[in-house]
Amino acid sequence: MDFSSTLIKWYAINKRELPWRNTKNPYFIWISEIILQQTRVIQGEPYYLKFIETFPTIDKLASADEKKILRLWQGLGYYSRARNMHFTAKFIVENHSAKFPNEYDKILNLKGVGTYTAAAISSFAFGLPYAVLDGNVFRVLSRVFGIDIPIDSTLGKKKFSALAQSLLDKKRPALNNQAIMEFGATHCTHKLPKCASCPFIVDCIAYNTNSVHNLPFKLKKLRIKKRYLNYFLLQNCNRILLGKRDSGIWQGLYELPHIEFTKSKSAESIINSRKWNDFFENINYNLISSSQLSIHKLSHQHIYARFWILEINEFKLKKYEFVSISKLTDFPIPRLLDKFLKEINLI
Ligand code: ADE
Repeated sequence: MDFSSTLIKWYAINKRELPWRNTKNPYFIWISEIILQQTRVIQGEPYYLKFIETFPTIDKLASADEKKILRLWQGLGYYSRARNMHFTAKFIVENHSAKFPNEYDKILNLKGVGTYTAAAISSFAFGLPYAVLDGNVFRVLSRVFGIDIPIDSTLGKKKFSALAQSLLDKKRPALNNQAIMEFGATHCTHKLPKCASCPFIVDCIAYNTNSVHNLPFKLKKLRIKKRYLNYFLLQNCNRILLGKRDSGIWQGLYELPHIEFTKSKSAESIINSRKWNDFFENINYNLISSSQLSIHKLSHQHIYARFWILEINEFKLKKYEFVSISKLTDFPIPRLLDKFLKEINLI
């Protein structure tokens, strides 16, 4: 079996037309790869187009306001990607005279760039022979070659990386890398692989040993934490209280004051809880409404959010400021808050 040329032939017929596939500009390719790190193509494509239109050069991104970058990123999640991108743009302007580095090791040194992204940029923009290894590649290789070494072990990463590198067509690394990712993303998929029309059907060890759905093999099951968050929309004269987060996954984004519980509670028991009473100790409020629980699924946590709307007197709350409702759309906010504000027609 000539693995790479079979893949490349499959790709020529089946590839999707995607905007970052028509460029060798390393800055554009970097943006696309950061967006696609944890995001599906269909969701990422409009963000990519918005980003390169708003920030067509690395200088423009470097000199932008972080708030504007996060606002453009809003809805994509994993906001550290956007913060790291801003940091790296400034770093390239200062340390590489605004020219994207063209060597694998220098690319790998950039903040927010791991081995996958460094191999992708090196091959797509500069034609360098580095094989990509992402979730798609793990899946395709583990199945076709019947490898059940855990992909989340050190040994697994080493073995798969060596195999991917040995299979790479060194004369066509960009094409080969695009092809294997596309094949994993659209054909050899996690739940519904199209085995009947697979070009590897004769050789695929997983298919021929009936173990397609057991591969790739992982050691750790993902543990999902449940969080119960009660957000307070505190209104005073067409303004609401909003605060900027200074840590965690939503660092740099704005959010409502809140209290958190580790268990599900009724609205009544929340109002009678110590946390509620501590929060509202010095605040005169008039409770207008409380929402149903809405669930917001992130990769490692499920957030059960309840929004409370309250009229309050003017008062000061550390780290929060009153923001006019008419200015709300200037602020980057998590998607669950954006959804709620839209539902109640505030934005
Ligand atoms: N996922 C990650 N990088 C990609 C790319 N360049 N094209 C399609 N899907 C991708």
